[in-house]
Amino acid sequence: MVNVPEVVLQSVDKRYRTGAAALEGISFEVERGEFVAFLGPSGCGKSTLLRLVSGLSAATSGSVRVNGMTPDNARELMSFIFQDSTLMPWRTVAENVGLSLELEHAAPPLRSERVDRMLNLVGLTHVARRYPRELSGGMKMRVSIARALASRPRILLLDEPFAALDEMTRDRMNEELLRLYEEQKWTVLFVTHSVAEAVFLSTRIVILSSNPGRIAHDVAVDLPWPRTAEIRDSLVFEQTVTGVSRLLRGVMQA
Ligand SMILES: Nc1ncnc2c1ncn2[C@@H]1O[C@H](COP(=O)(O)OP(=O)(O)O)[C@@H](O)[C@H]1O
Ligand SMILES: [Mg+2]
Repeated sequence: MVNVPEVVLQSVDKRYRTGAAALEGISFEVERGEFVAFLGPSGCGKSTLLRLVSGLSAATSGSVRVNGMTPDNARELMSFIFQDSTLMPWRTVAENVGLSLELEHAAPPLRSERVDRMLNLVGLTHVARRYPRELSGGMKMRVSIARALASRPRILLLDEPFAALDEMTRDRMNEELLRLYEEQKWTVLFVTHSVAEAVFLSTRIVILSSNPGRIAHDVAVDLPWPRTAEIRDSLVFEQTVTGVSRLLRGVMQA
């Protein structure tokens, strides 16, 4: 069997009706199991890129393929988590997590078993019957992750999911995400503003330049696995962050 890359973009342009090109000439491939972080100045088209992959938005020209299919046909392979992923305030944590399964009309016993498993995975079994307003920001984010995972995606698209969290919570969420990533073998496309976060999490970093959004750099992250919290204190981590920051600065000044 031919091994089809998980995500392939070929000469993709995206122009919104209201303005100049948001993305121009974007080509790249993501293999199954890669964790790719996207960095770049505000407005360079990072969110647009994820929206094109997810099928929420269509390319003006060029082609986007997910597991060899159009994004629309590959919808059930993917889950999208936004920075301000909103939970439904009138639903309990468990009911929020089960939402996508309800939409898929999964049978109730399967639904509740899957919800239990997801809550366990993100360490929130003890708050299953609580409401979102009773949770901290970090816990709410874990609920949205559990909700996204309940439909068993193979590909995760995350758009600055932890940007609103304080640094310690963010670090902890990063560690939890990596633990799940190593266990679940997802393919991940992750947008962030934080170089340290990108370096800690990813196998590869794509840096975009803006006006129009283009790929400026595409670099492998050669830190060992598993990535433990201690790795942040290592020299190689610091050197990688310095190197990536320099590339990013170059793009910002251009
Ligand atoms: N729905 C839209 N309609 C018109 N222009 C948009 C829309 N969404 C984004 N843009 C424009 O496209 C460019 C890229 O935006 P975006 O993908 O949100 O960048 P980023 O996520 O990197 O900050 C920006 O110039 C933004 O103003
Ligand atoms: Mg954005």
